[in-house]
Amino acid sequence: MTHGTYMRKIIDYANRADPYPLYSELRKTPVLRDEDGPYLVSTYWEIHGLLHDPRISSDRRNLNPDAARLVALEDEEDDPMLTPNFIRLDPPDHDRLRRIAMYPFGPPHTPRRIHDMRGELARIVSGLIDDFQGRDGADLVDDFAYPFPVTVICRLLGVPRNDEPLFHDWADTIVAGADPDPDADATERRATVRRARTELSMYLSELIEDRRRTPSEDMLSALVHGDGPDGRMTHAELVSTASLLLIAGHETTVNLITNGMLTLLRHPDVLKRLHDDPHLAASLVEEVLRYEPPVQLLPQRTPLTDVDIAGVTIPKGESIWLILASGNRDPRRFPDPDRFDPDRKDNQHLGFGSGIHICYGAPLARLEAQLALTELARRLENPRLLEDPPPYRRNAVLRGPRHLPVGFDGVHAAREP
Ligand code: HEM
Repeated sequence: MTHGTYMRKIIDYANRADPYPLYSELRKTPVLRDEDGPYLVSTYWEIHGLLHDPRISSDRRNLNPDAARLVALEDEEDDPMLTPNFIRLDPPDHDRLRRIAMYPFGPPHTPRRIHDMRGELARIVSGLIDDFQGRDGADLVDDFAYPFPVTVICRLLGVPRNDEPLFHDWADTIVAGADPDPDADATERRATVRRARTELSMYLSELIEDRRRTPSEDMLSALVHGDGPDGRMTHAELVSTASLLLIAGHETTVNLITNGMLTLLRHPDVLKRLHDDPHLAASLVEEVLRYEPPVQLLPQRTPLTDVDIAGVTIPKGESIWLILASGNRDPRRFPDPDRFDPDRKDNQHLGFGSGIHICYGAPLARLEAQLALTELARRLENPRLLEDPPPYRRNAVLRGPRHLPVGFDGVHAAREP
């Protein structure tokens, strides 16, 4: 056994296309002390319990330095320009910032924000599929699933359309920076990512100032001028929250759409059902989130005190990895877990996490994926996979195909609005 044997197996690219046999092996020991590595938690109820346990911190500053050194194989950049955003904070700061960010985003204060974007989302999807006309194939990552969510988050926040390409570039660079790549020059990569983060922060900072002077209908204006019982965010908090929304909603949604389409192409009977009946989309997307979740694991949890779980004591300050994708395939929670079943009832998957950090953007992500998969199923004639498995991204945490080459015989016309 070398240090972090299982952690290294999870990161090992050889396991990327099908990590599920490895997770099944891990579940034999629900809480596994990986030799000098993190504590790996792989069973549903143990993961669920820790996600709801107030003794478990999301704040990296609570990790003891030895544990931090061992697990920081390819850690994200800490940017002094940014205060920690709320995904990395504990109560009470987390709760305050999340509540303020929630006012302009959803019920009960702004119940129609996502609903009102439906028409615009559908137009973006239609436009991207229109571009497939006259072709016999496409890469569903580069040509479809990648441009879609960044465009949407830009519109939501209120980034002027002409500046959207800047965002695409910054988001690409920052997300690629979180992708472990042993062949790349680490120093150069870190410098590139830092530059993109700084430019993004400066851009958002100016945009926030602009909205302070001239408010409009977008979410950033609402955040800048919001006046709820929790008060307003500071300027630094606004910048870090806007960056979080941009990045958190980016590669995750790309992977949900591509994992979903890959799964459908491997299950042509379900693809045909979706083609015939768009109402299947809601339960189908939930099943994709269980069966092939875009966020495979949460590698950033730390106990604030010794915690006993499944016969193991996890000491204060150690690193815990919660393997959501493994919990989603736990036979003690989901009958026949390795079967893709869009009719599954009782599908409380861990694809969006659980507890106080449960995904803030879930309603938007669900809608984007439902629209995208329904339109692809409806408009592509005889779609088929050109490579199975497709080439995957290196990233073990945000897992999904890097490319998804698909062939088709034609493209049906878009529906009239
Ligand atoms: C399929 C797409 C998505 C998936 C699978 C996903 C998954 C997740 C997961 C697993 C968490 C929990 C993290 C943790 O407990 O540490 C989370 C949190 C979060 N997500 Fe998402 N997400 C998606 C889309 C989005 C979108 C579109 C947005 C923004 C509009 C977003 C914003 C956030 C934020 C702000 C948090 C932090 C919440 C908190 O700390 O309270 N996500 N997401």
